[in-house]
Amino acid sequence: MSYPFQIKSQEEYNERYKESVEHPEKFWAAIADNFLWRKKWDKVLDWNFTEPKIEWFKGAKLNITENCIDRHLATKGEDAAIIWEPNNPEERTRIVTYNRLHKRVCQVAQMLKNNGVKKGDRVCIYMGMVPELAYAVLGCARIGAIHSVIFGGFSAQSIADRLDDAQAEYIITCDGAYRGEKVIPLKNVIDDALIGNKTVKKVIVYTRTRTPVSMIKGRDIWWEDEMEHAEHQVEKDGKVTFEAEEMDAEDPLFILYTSGSTGKPKGVVHACAGYMIYTAYSFVNVFQYQPKQIFFCTADIGWITGHSYIVYGPLAAGATSLMFEGIPTYPSCSRFFDIVDKYKVNILYTAPTAIRSLMGFGDAPYKNNDLSSLQILGTVGEPINEEAWHWYDEHIGKKKCPIVDTWWQTETGGVLISNLAGITPAKPSWATLPLPGIQPLLVNENGKEVTEPDEDGLLKGNLCIKFPWPSILRTTYGDHERCRKNYFATYPNLYFTGDGALKDKDGNYRITGRVDDVLNVSGHRIGTAEVENAINMHSGVVESAVVGYPHDIKGQGIYAYVIYTGHHDAELTRRDITMTVSRIIGPIAKPDKIQFVSGLPKTRSGKIMRRILRKIAEGETQNLGDTTTLLDPGVVEEIKNGKV
Ligand code: PRX
Repeated sequence: MSYPFQIKSQEEYNERYKESVEHPEKFWAAIADNFLWRKKWDKVLDWNFTEPKIEWFKGAKLNITENCIDRHLATKGEDAAIIWEPNNPEERTRIVTYNRLHKRVCQVAQMLKNNGVKKGDRVCIYMGMVPELAYAVLGCARIGAIHSVIFGGFSAQSIADRLDDAQAEYIITCDGAYRGEKVIPLKNVIDDALIGNKTVKKVIVYTRTRTPVSMIKGRDIWWEDEMEHAEHQVEKDGKVTFEAEEMDAEDPLFILYTSGSTGKPKGVVHACAGYMIYTAYSFVNVFQYQPKQIFFCTADIGWITGHSYIVYGPLAAGATSLMFEGIPTYPSCSRFFDIVDKYKVNILYTAPTAIRSLMGFGDAPYKNNDLSSLQILGTVGEPINEEAWHWYDEHIGKKKCPIVDTWWQTETGGVLISNLAGITPAKPSWATLPLPGIQPLLVNENGKEVTEPDEDGLLKGNLCIKFPWPSILRTTYGDHERCRKNYFATYPNLYFTGDGALKDKDGNYRITGRVDDVLNVSGHRIGTAEVENAINMHSGVVESAVVGYPHDIKGQGIYAYVIYTGHHDAELTRRDITMTVSRIIGPIAKPDKIQFVSGLPKTRSGKIMRRILRKIAEGETQNLGDTTTLLDPGVVEEIKNGKV
């Protein structure tokens, strides 16, 4: 692939940005010309944000896997598509060339077909970070099945809810997954999730850890057996083929569940063509990817970052993507950087929470590492504090690597606001400028655009986007009204991100964090209502309120105020409540602090005043704001005194 769409200078960025706003259809059609289409589009864009209806490249026909794999085979067949580093550094690594990836994806597609999976069927994928996870995702895309990857840290109950919501009929999983010293028994979790399930017909199990698993006759089948059988079907005279399904540009590619301010996660739906174009375009431009460079994104494919920047974006661009099975601190805190040296990684993309946790080890994470292969660094998932930014810059980038602070969301599919590495300037803790095609604006509570700077000369407001980009979500699975209400109803004709932001006089954006009841814990989104629902499941809990508080490593920690009627030991009860949350949602949602209270600050209409609870959790005792509307102001004193 050549890169006519790669921006090479600040001037070019300015020009492209201008074109993209003045003539968006022309702009995106030119970008789309860099891809492989079975048939070109009838219309570039049709949209309104009221329904919402968003259609990009309608009428075009394609298959994303032909773009991510087949079209590279002639020129890069023997180049590495995926480099896989196992949890245990002593174990054999795997280099998956584009040829090999093609073969494996064709096999998976055939295996799925053999088991009755058809275009449009939902396939839930619950696996560790093994190459087979990438094959599974791409195999679904090859036959047009809609994948829904669930992160390995979610519980059986969370999986059951997602299976039900997506009406999934197929699951691909592993016996277990390695994470540092732990083995997570994934298949057992799936078995629990399937109790009472009526839709799932087949569970395909890949063997990774040799963890004992139950295999139910007629339902559970082994990946290895199925793949071997499929191999004979796709390979003839040394040539591998599996005809990819022809997809419409707007056909759904995948569902990915994410938390919102209600108790139930939403299935964000992305469409084939727009998602492909935008992930590849943003990948090449933000990271300024050059052929042959090795790109290491440390995310898990269970999150959007892994979908867009381990799998689809890099592969669509013909890049080499490094996939890591383990965790940053195993077997030691220098693991990320050992990997960088081992493979001579050029671009490293990680989360501020990982940087902050490594900072706690002094110079141990990097002191024995060379790191000279690194050219570009990136961060994602949460605001990066200046201290972490400078640590990353000095000790990892050795002050010679541009750092891109990439702001985006599950719903946006790809990076919307970021500097372009080495092209547009970085500003520590600022995501900086919108990518071409992205039209952000800040609005006040009433939806009016903020135009008056504050005393620091900054505009401050809620971050919205006023024009669609190709990888914007299309709907929330099975409930379009929910999509409208969540993202398009707060402010008419705008997509509302849920984030607050500042804008400086040069047009740079700084994301300040969520303005809704959503927490960002270690870069993971968790709805407070979801955690409250889980806590309330514990017997003896009458009511609870969950808020975030600043946490040195996680960014935000989870603080739960709980009204509890039992008479048990407080510490034991805390542990039981934590276990309950782990069971209902997963270990990622465990509260960091639990305070038992006799009442919650409520208005006369019964609404919990979270503002007060948030302040107390943050350690503020004086300026709690107006408490006169409270039904029982006395409760605030008690809560203040009992802070944990
Ligand atoms: O609050 C923003 C924060 O993460 C949220 C999106 O979470 P999720 O959909 O899980 O996707 C995370 C990875 C793309 C946003 O609403 N966020 C993401 N990136 C940044 C950020 N906050 C500040 N700076 C960022 N670079």
